[in-house]
Amino acid sequence: MTIFSVQSTIFSRASVVLLSSNGFKRFSFASSFSSSAVYSPPLPKMKKRRYPIVSAVDIGGVTISRNDVVRDDDPTNNVPDSIFSKLGMQLHRRDKHPIGILKNAIYNYFDSNYSKKFEKFDDLSPIVTTKQNFDDVLVPADHVSRSLNDTYYVDSQTVLRCHTSAHQAELLRKGHSRFLVTGDVYRRDSIDSTHYPVFHQMEGFCVFSPEDWNESGKDSTLYAAEDLKKCLEGLARHLFGSVEMRWVDTYFPFTNPSFELEIYFKEDWLEVLGCGVTEQVILKQSGLENNVAWAFGLGLERLAMVLFDIPDIRFFWTSDERFTSQFGKGELGVKFKPYSKYPPCYKDISFWISDSFTENNFCEVVRGIAGDLVEELKLIDQFTNKKGMTSHCYRIVFRSMERSLTDEEVNDLQSKVRDEVQKKLNVELR
Ligand code: DAH
Repeated sequence: MTIFSVQSTIFSRASVVLLSSNGFKRFSFASSFSSSAVYSPPLPKMKKRRYPIVSAVDIGGVTISRNDVVRDDDPTNNVPDSIFSKLGMQLHRRDKHPIGILKNAIYNYFDSNYSKKFEKFDDLSPIVTTKQNFDDVLVPADHVSRSLNDTYYVDSQTVLRCHTSAHQAELLRKGHSRFLVTGDVYRRDSIDSTHYPVFHQMEGFCVFSPEDWNESGKDSTLYAAEDLKKCLEGLARHLFGSVEMRWVDTYFPFTNPSFELEIYFKEDWLEVLGCGVTEQVILKQSGLENNVAWAFGLGLERLAMVLFDIPDIRFFWTSDERFTSQFGKGELGVKFKPYSKYPPCYKDISFWISDSFTENNFCEVVRGIAGDLVEELKLIDQFTNKKGMTSHCYRIVFRSMERSLTDEEVNDLQSKVRDEVQKKLNVELR
């Protein structure tokens, strides 16, 4: 059991078994919008929107316009405006934000233990090819993560990266051999306090040459696995202090052997990261057939929620000063002091589902209408009648992190949800 099932890794064995990802949990508005975001003039409809209408964002000096990412002309495209508006926010590059503070603390660990030999990348574009995101890291052709239900597609060959592993091969090909890649990653997912369709990951990668392991007398894989474990145990101690840890064998398409590191924290085992010894094919494809390497990937929200005591993943996106003012540069582990919450408002919706219905699609419709005002979406009842029709009843919890919602506003949101699910999801309201 882990404390949170906060999003972190998707490629472990469980996701391979559950090819139909419906209901399967995979595995993070800040103080101001990214200084690099360019806004179109306010539209009359603006007031009702739960997210800003961004016309373009700047990522690593490249301007990406909305029309290139949110496209009506491509049937594969499933990126909504609410997601486009998150591109370029780069919470991990804000030194006073919990995600940025955690990134910097991990940087410090690597800088001081490896004399700054790990190169750092935190500005690579989250728009990548399917080759980068999947093929280059050996994700099987029928893996659930490739589906339109799980990943945001810009077009049939371009996606919003669903993990920072998407950059491994490209950086190896460019000659980098020790690096950390931090970035925002995107996954279509359910809605609750630990799941949000955008979160942040850090990838670590380290290549060894024959002289490294020859001296040790160990075979290359064992040498890399031992080095990896030593490095990550040190990192866990750097972040959490002297905690109990354990290694769990697992499966990732890109590593063999593969492990997960868990730490015992607040009376429960918490999965901290996924890692392993890189599959030789990946190295070979980058001209490194005589080498061996290790890699890891960790979810920053998951760790930040534990380290800073942050109870809801939506807090990372709030611009409420009562949240943002609690954190300072370099202050790892300051405990978040909750401020009074605004009241929730519960609304139920029931419908007969169709064969094509998926919970992720439903979540996306609700998020598209209510944005961050939706706190949770729970299936509270389901049954199949004699005719074989299946009914789902969902409870939607509306709550703002910033103000009290009026009845009128919530009724309006709920009525829009009812209209849109019928139109977009081919369900029959009950
Ligand atoms: N990319 C994995 C995920 O998002 C995490 C991961 C696991 C990255 C193992 C790695 C690794 O580099 O070796 O689920």
